[in-house]
Amino acid sequence: MLLHSIDEVREVVQKWKTEGYKVGLVPTMGALHDGHLSLIKKAKSICDKVVVSDFVNPIQFGPNEDFDKYPRTLDTDMKLCDEEGVDIIFAPTPKEMYGEGQRLSNNTLTYVCPPFFYVNTLCGKTRIGHFDGVCTVVLKLFNIVQPDYAFFGQKDAQQVIIIKKMVKDLNVPVEIIQCPIVREASGLALSSRNKYLSEEGKKDALVLSKILNNIKECYKKGIVDVNALKETAYSFLTNKHDMEYLEIVDKDTLENKTAADDNSIALTAIRVENVRLIDNIYLGE
Ligand code: PAJ
Repeated sequence: MLLHSIDEVREVVQKWKTEGYKVGLVPTMGALHDGHLSLIKKAKSICDKVVVSDFVNPIQFGPNEDFDKYPRTLDTDMKLCDEEGVDIIFAPTPKEMYGEGQRLSNNTLTYVCPPFFYVNTLCGKTRIGHFDGVCTVVLKLFNIVQPDYAFFGQKDAQQVIIIKKMVKDLNVPVEIIQCPIVREASGLALSSRNKYLSEEGKKDALVLSKILNNIKECYKKGIVDVNALKETAYSFLTNKHDMEYLEIVDKDTLENKTAADDNSIALTAIRVENVRLIDNIYLGE
């Protein structure tokens, strides 16, 4: 069932709760692909009822980012959700979520601002305010749906770490389930933004998974020095690649390391055809 209003969602979910159903929430910005569907499948496997939110959240996009051109494919999303047996697709308008006339700044809206250390690193260095916008919308979705479980992908590793931190710090009564990255056979991590790439761009984009796999192979061979591991990446880059960052940090706390260990995660953001792509890999698994 497709619902656009917060009140309708609350009404249906409250009814489910009185009937004792376990409710799962899969927050998305739509343009669903197999990565999103893996979260939905996981949710279906452990919950009685599943809500998918489909909302391109304006407050997590910077002024020069792709909010306007972000793919919006609600009809296809609905079909895919139907096939997976999703119970509610919640597709609110920005007005339903944030009210009329909001300038959507933190002068007019109560924001959730995660600690500086978590947001001022990796993606947050260039995406100023991004994780405030993510946490604000995710907490709103938690309050609207009040799910028992919520599902997030490791694809956005910094995002899920920050959301877990928010849930813990603010005592939100939801269990966060993290799901593995879904990739194309080529190794390219699925992303709604892959739609912006040409066929050639998609080939150039393989550099992300190649670099990360190579770092992991080198780590498994015994190289632990983080700088040495990062060095191995640079030979893969050509003038088609604009690397924003490559870091090896603790997979739970994002703390920097000088020596990698089994708790490390390597993460990278690289622009290909001016499309900003991210990927990561756990070194320990
Ligand atoms: P979106 O980019 O649509 O992603 C929704 C969820 O799908 C996220 O938890 C993301 O990590 C997961 N996902 C995306 N690609 C994946 C892949 N290849 N494999 C596994 N999971 C994948 O992330 C957001 O939306 C937004 O920031 C949101 C949390 C919805 C808040 O607006």
